[in-house]
Amino acid sequence: MENGGMKSSKTNDDHLRKSLIDWYDAEKRDLPWRRTNDPWLILLSEVILQQTQVSRGIEYWVKISNRFPTPKALAEADQEELLTLWQGAGYYARARRLHALAIQVSKPASEGGFDGSIPESIEQLLGLPGIGAYTAAAVASIAFALPVGVVDGNVRRVASRQTGNPSPTHDSVSIWANSMIILDRPGDSNQAMMELGAVICKPKAPKCDLCPISNSCKGKENPLAYPTPIKRKKTIENLDAAVLLDSAGWPRLSRRDPSERFGGMWGPPMREIMTDTLTPVGEIVHHLTHRELRVKVWSGQCSRGIDPSTVPISNLDRKILELAGVM
Ligand code: ADE
Repeated sequence: MENGGMKSSKTNDDHLRKSLIDWYDAEKRDLPWRRTNDPWLILLSEVILQQTQVSRGIEYWVKISNRFPTPKALAEADQEELLTLWQGAGYYARARRLHALAIQVSKPASEGGFDGSIPESIEQLLGLPGIGAYTAAAVASIAFALPVGVVDGNVRRVASRQTGNPSPTHDSVSIWANSMIILDRPGDSNQAMMELGAVICKPKAPKCDLCPISNSCKGKENPLAYPTPIKRKKTIENLDAAVLLDSAGWPRLSRRDPSERFGGMWGPPMREIMTDTLTPVGEIVHHLTHRELRVKVWSGQCSRGIDPSTVPISNLDRKILELAGVM
């Protein structure tokens, strides 16, 4: 393809790949999971980074990897212990699936497991709970040096700007990301691309003057036009929460069903509460990726509550309890 396409000549591509990796070698952030080549610890970092920013992900990675240094250590623990360490990071289904993954890989090969290690192929990785295309490619390239490009939001934005395509398909970004892999350093090639998207080729304030591959960028005159934002209106959900206190001031809390939002975490009753016997205390607005939760908080009494510091609680439930004066 001459212009506007995803491909350029091999020499140009070689030059591009080298500029990017040289920049990464000189500028990369010192992140704790970059100092290990243990596949389990790398997988853990990528599961955390699926929905948590790098700066916030570090503390979670450190405490979870210290407590569960192997899949077996996690498989032998209660899911609730992981959820307690995961408190505040959100998207608790990730933690539940990670626990299921640890149990699955810890099984003997005769029972469909991997004897406690992380499997190496993309197909095997994709068969594990919580592992989609992004995480499989990240783990396969970083831990096992397989030459597969990752596609996440950062990579998509860099691809869109580099190629001047405001709405590239997932497949076209994937082909472009594969073409940017240096065969003897697949993991670093991917991390360099994600790093570039995170610190230079930023969504709203790109630093094009510091970009190692700005020469080849077709979007640099008007980077904010790439990629076209996908506007999705948030669905508003109205909820009620009852903070019922016992005579000692402890709230009634129960473990949310795994099929519900915040499954496995503990919180005050939020369904079918009888508000006519309760006192209103205020409203909390809580934002999830595609939803805005508006929670009316009520207070009342109960016969027996529990100490909230003994169970894992989501940020929303923490805010609800705080509004009612509990935490
Ligand atoms: N985002 C997700 N995984 C990452 C990694 N390994 N390095 C930088 N950013 C990331």
